[in-house]
Amino acid sequence: MKILVVGSGGREHTIVWKIAQSPKVDKIYCAPGNAGIAELAECVSIDVMDKESMVKFAKDNAIDLVMVAPDDPLAAGMVDAMEAEGIRAFGPRANAAIIEASKAFSKELMKKYNIPTAAYEIFTDSAEAISYLEKGTFPAVIKADGLALGKGVIIAQNLDEAKAAVHDMIDGGKFGKSGSRVVIEQFLTGPEVSVLAFTDGKTVKPMVSAQDHKRAYDNDEGLNTGGMGTFSPSRLYDAAKEEECMKNIFLPTIKAMQAEGRPFKGVLYFGLMMTADGVKVIEYNCRFGDPETQVVLPRLKTDLVEIMEAVIDERLDEIEIEWADNAAVCVVMASGGYPVSYEKGYEISGIEDANAMDNVIVFHAGTKLVDGKYTNAGGRVLGVTAVDENLDKAIKRAYEGVSKISWKDEFHRNDIGIKKY
Ligand code: AMP
Ligand code: GLY
Repeated sequence: MKILVVGSGGREHTIVWKIAQSPKVDKIYCAPGNAGIAELAECVSIDVMDKESMVKFAKDNAIDLVMVAPDDPLAAGMVDAMEAEGIRAFGPRANAAIIEASKAFSKELMKKYNIPTAAYEIFTDSAEAISYLEKGTFPAVIKADGLALGKGVIIAQNLDEAKAAVHDMIDGGKFGKSGSRVVIEQFLTGPEVSVLAFTDGKTVKPMVSAQDHKRAYDNDEGLNTGGMGTFSPSRLYDAAKEEECMKNIFLPTIKAMQAEGRPFKGVLYFGLMMTADGVKVIEYNCRFGDPETQVVLPRLKTDLVEIMEAVIDERLDEIEIEWADNAAVCVVMASGGYPVSYEKGYEISGIEDANAMDNVIVFHAGTKLVDGKYTNAGGRVLGVTAVDENLDKAIKRAYEGVSKISWKDEFHRNDIGIKKY
């Protein structure tokens, strides 16, 4: 088979790495890919949002399966565009990707189908939003409706902060069209767990659990980022929690999407909060998480290509998905100054040394080859992933890998996987 993966980050490197292990695969392309992906796949320089060129490339190269990884092209109908030309594609159609692309849609879905989530109201008028906030309690959670690169959520500690957020989003156009509608919701507390699940629209098969560290610095200090590291499994997500989630969240969500005429096929990401009042949905994503994928896929024993085909053909109930009884940790190495501003183009040393370690894989997120040398080309640059028999060993091994790699101003957190909550 010939497979095309759409995307360019650490998540896509992991997906390509896993697909490359499939005996079914002869050739992998990645658009646009990165310097690490280029070792396993032929990278083609097509923008992830350019549906026309992507479809043309898939047709011209007789691609058997297109795997669309990021949210933006999914929400923009990349899978629909492929299907319209008879090309098999993995991922939700635009009418199902809306579960991530519109928070107003997902909140209304959860309310209608009794799926546990924070109480909320939706506003398009800033005066109405503010008068609602004046009657409420703080902290309050204010979310831009649409995709905002993970930056559209403000936890306002008081009325002044809340007013500023509402004005920025609705009147100031801070997130463009994404923010012209806002969701204001109840502030929940509790640890967060990410569960990604394969679904063909009828059957749902959850993957092993993971936890992300979103803040830039140790002890959850600093700004929110796209994710500074992950570990799998979560220590909090046991069989009883999985049963609770299956019954109250996973199956009801799949059934709800089906009932709405928006069957979801692909990977559905459940962002869950373990509250005193049971597990609640904080968010849905319509795709593999980044950097959750970096710790989940290395634990998958089954051929990913077989699973993707079963999803596309709606026979996920017929296959057995096996996971290793081990643990994985991914430490993100970032450019100094991320997530605000940073310098690119510094030479990175030591990637080969880390990769040479047993059970350590360095996934590239933002790297570029310049004169045969790796350089940093983004905020999050590498995800050093280690797999071992338990979390403590995997943490130690991942940091051994990290210690071999360096470039000017590099930084990473030192506490990935350590949080016990
Ligand atoms: P989201 O983009 O919806 O996942 O929100 C980003 C982050 O904001 C989440 O991972 C939570 O840490 C936090 N958050 C979102 N909604 C709530 C809520 N209702 N209560 C408390 N924290 C929240
Ligand atoms: N790690 C969070 C996300 O992929 O959205």
